[in-house]
Amino acid sequence: MNRLQGKTAVVTGGANKIGRQAAELFLKEGANVVIVDLFRDSLEEAAGAIEQFGPIIAVQADVSQEEDVQNYVKKTVRQFGGIDVFFHNASIEGKKAPLAEQTAEDFDKVLSVNTRSVFLGLKYVIPVMRKQLSGNIVTLSSAAGFIGSPDSAPYAASEHAVAGLVKTAALETAAAGIHVNLIFASPSTGNAKIMSFLEEGVNSLHSIEGMEAAAKSTPAGRFGKSEEIAKLVLGLALNDSSSIIESPYSGDESMTAH
Ligand SMILES: NC(=O)c1ccc[n+]([C@@H]2O[C@H](COP(=O)([O-])OP(=O)(O)OC[C@H]3O[C@@H](n4cnc5c(N)ncnc54)[C@H](O)[C@@H]3O)[C@@H](O)[C@H]2O)c1
Repeated sequence: MNRLQGKTAVVTGGANKIGRQAAELFLKEGANVVIVDLFRDSLEEAAGAIEQFGPIIAVQADVSQEEDVQNYVKKTVRQFGGIDVFFHNASIEGKKAPLAEQTAEDFDKVLSVNTRSVFLGLKYVIPVMRKQLSGNIVTLSSAAGFIGSPDSAPYAASEHAVAGLVKTAALETAAAGIHVNLIFASPSTGNAKIMSFLEEGVNSLHSIEGMEAAAKSTPAGRFGKSEEIAKLVLGLALNDSSSIIESPYSGDESMTAH
């Protein structure tokens, strides 16, 4: 469709599932794509699998480290001249255990990869977009970003904190033509880790029966698919969505047009 022809998109956590699927959709829309991830092997494998669709570079980085973030931003600008779409998707779930059994190190690690990384990404991408007077930023969070999540206190805390960062960035940049949105995704069937955790039946909330009941309680009666989340990301990345911004005043986490 070429709706992102000539644009450049950066995808963190781009080597796997949602990130990789979004990168492929961006390429098919004509964008130059930079995928950023922790492990060189999976990055190269992902880039090799989708390079047939358009120009792509892979940058190895730990998104929680400031120098690495500066490096992926610099490399993108050097290679493609700017950043039109920034999809922050990298995250970890952390240890599954009740809060009292989590260590301070467990907490710091999850907050570092999931929250510090968003702060750093926004800190270094926003100035690039300000110069362009345009840009779309999409951050992927979780339902654990607005409700509690038993056995995942660090993850829930990290995703709640991401909401504060993203809402603030949205307010600070809207007048500069930069659109910042946040998706609170529910578990999708593409998430092998979540699914295997559920299958282990760690507690009553996370048994197979609990999982089936949770799926049935959704409006569609099923969990979403990771590619459906990737398509939503694409929708927000397109300029078609330029009048959509998360309402900081709605108080109900809804998205609203302005
Ligand atoms: N899939 C789901 O069911 C679901 C549900 C709710 C929220 N989410 C959110 O969606 C996003 C992606 O989910 P997914 O299922 O594709 O996960 P995933 O684990 O397959 O992908 C995450 C990617 O982030 C990368 N990553 C982890 N730590 C990193 C670091 N320090 N530096 C750079 N890269 C790092 C991983 O290598 C991986 O490629 C996450 O933000 C997750 O919280 C997913």
